[in-house]
Amino acid sequence: MKKHFVEFWEHITSMDKAKQRAEKIIQIIEKYHNQAVKLLELGVGIGVVLKNFPEKYSVAGLDIEKEYIEYCKRNFPNNKFIESSMHDFSLEEKYDVIYSVYDSINFLSNFDQWITTFLCVKKHLNNQGLFIFDMYTPKVLDDKKILQPTCQVESMGYSIDRGIVRDNLLEWEVILFEHKKENQYEKHTFNFYERIFPISKVENELYKHFEIIEKELYEEGNKIRYACRKK
Ligand SMILES: C[S@@+](CC[C@H](N)C(=O)[O-])C[C@H]1O[C@@H](n2cnc3c(N)ncnc32)[C@H](O)[C@@H]1O
Repeated sequence: MKKHFVEFWEHITSMDKAKQRAEKIIQIIEKYHNQAVKLLELGVGIGVVLKNFPEKYSVAGLDIEKEYIEYCKRNFPNNKFIESSMHDFSLEEKYDVIYSVYDSINFLSNFDQWITTFLCVKKHLNNQGLFIFDMYTPKVLDDKKILQPTCQVESMGYSIDRGIVRDNLLEWEVILFEHKKENQYEKHTFNFYERIFPISKVENELYKHFEIIEKELYEEGNKIRYACRKK
């Protein structure tokens, strides 16, 4: 039976980098909304970012993948988790901060879903609430460097990542060679699809609902992080 990616995620995630993603969000919250306590992460995955938040925050997580939500519920029994797409969630609660990191928003299938994601976020934010997220910029589509396959030795075996660009689609092929015994490995292939849109197109939509209070290009301009306040 085909294994789910959740079985390998822990092995191939850099916990240090996940911690850095959390620290960046905490910095922005402390700078622009230091009264915030109720947070929601969109695209929470297996909770490697959420778990780094200090106890004063109550952080909920949302993800489209049932397996990730089940994993999170098992591993973080004190947090709340919701299985839903970020583009059409409807919850009774509102949050002080909604954030999404590691280009999770690029996983949406089309730009209409970005538009409804922004609407859902606005609807679920308290007054003065912050929306913080990062995304790939179109530069990544030209930047051949990152598309070189990379091979890594993991605790579970080996992994090879390869990026393939088609128009505004960035497809990631992740091949995992799971170590079984001695020289025996089992091969697992996973494909992830990310869609990249022009910065101006994204900002035009953001401006309808949010004030952009900070933006930062990083990873050589391949990524941008926004901090926005609900209008
Ligand atoms: C690159 S991972 C990031 C996980 C985590 N935030 C981190 O920083 O390690 C992207 C996550 O977004 C989730 N995702 C993809 N499409 C989604 C959607 N439409 N709604 C909610 N989550 C989605 C995936 O299941 C995955 O867990």
